[in-house]
Amino acid sequence: MLANVAAKPLRDTHGRIATDLRVSLTDRCNLRCTYCMPAEGPGWLPSPHILTDEEVTRVVAIAVERLGITEVRFTGGEPLLRPGLARIVSAASKLSPQPSISLTTNGIGLAKQAVDLKRAGLDRINISLDTLDHQTFRQLSRRDRLDDVLTGIAAAAAAGIGPVKLNSVLIRDANDHEAPKLLNYALEHGLHLRFIEQMPLDPMGVWNREAMVTAEEILASLRNHWDLQPADQARGSEPAERWLIDEGPATVGIVASVTRPFCRTCDRVRLTADGQIRSCLFGRDDADLRTALRNGASADDIEQLIRGAIERKGPGHGINNDDFEPPSRPMSAIGG
Ligand SMILES: C[S@@+](CC[C@H](N)C(=O)[O-])C[C@H]1O[C@@H](n2cnc3c(N)ncnc32)[C@H](O)[C@@H]1O
Ligand code: SF4
Repeated sequence: MLANVAAKPLRDTHGRIATDLRVSLTDRCNLRCTYCMPAEGPGWLPSPHILTDEEVTRVVAIAVERLGITEVRFTGGEPLLRPGLARIVSAASKLSPQPSISLTTNGIGLAKQAVDLKRAGLDRINISLDTLDHQTFRQLSRRDRLDDVLTGIAAAAAAGIGPVKLNSVLIRDANDHEAPKLLNYALEHGLHLRFIEQMPLDPMGVWNREAMVTAEEILASLRNHWDLQPADQARGSEPAERWLIDEGPATVGIVASVTRPFCRTCDRVRLTADGQIRSCLFGRDDADLRTALRNGASADDIEQLIRGAIERKGPGHGINNDDFEPPSRPMSAIGG
């Protein structure tokens, strides 16, 4: 995507420029992945706290037109549960300069929405798939919906939303043996697979550094089956390190957020479902756009609130620091 030359870049005090806006459209979800949500609760955000379609659309427009955002990713919670999703995507796709529009989803219900989303202007999609085994899926997500996810993946590819990327989180003693099986599935279906190291983002505090499946372990497990060589000439702000499989062209990605943090090149900023700007998943520096939006703030006011949040962005997530404290809100509430 070309840089928006009319906009003044969204620059932080560490020399990074944010160009990628992640918008959480809901904190609700139809799965309960053990690394993301507790088995029961947390109470969902009350509806009046959630930004309306118009409010989301207004913030996205300001971000693209004034702040140089070139990529807008809709996420959650589960964004397919948001009734106005296609409308919001369509509004974003009509902005000038046109941003690249993507979605991160668990894929449930995508079979019904994929064609409409493609028509609305969705460019790319990431679908989460941690296992191909029904029992393991039930264990990890506490729901019996693997077939719905697989149907959703097929529907996205058939609708021409592509390339379809798969995201997998490996959990020790649950699905950590499945890395080769997942990669085989991706290769057979022409999909791009990325493994994501588990981060301390669960409200239950189950994350444990010693138990976390590391990028090195994932690589070792894949290398039992394939030759993997580093693929990227220039990785830029891409969080996944990519590896050429048996000399390519297919690749596999590994997002080593914990063991090889990439904060120095982070280009992201987040809008939570309840209208808070977060400069980092692990930040504690929200800027309250919802109150501003509902009190008649001008586009200049909104722009300044977002710039202020980015100016307060720290140099890194600090997961590896002794005094690290996990965020007070789960990934599902912040927007993954
Ligand atoms: C929070 S989810 C939201 C979108 C959608 N519900 C989904 O699952 O794709 C976005 C991504 O975050 C990942 N995720 C959630 N909790 C995580 C954690 N503790 N560590 C690493 N990734 C996590 C999920 O696997 C998913 O790929
Ligand atoms: S990772 Fe996605 S699908 Fe799983 S509980 Fe969190 S929001 Fe839901």
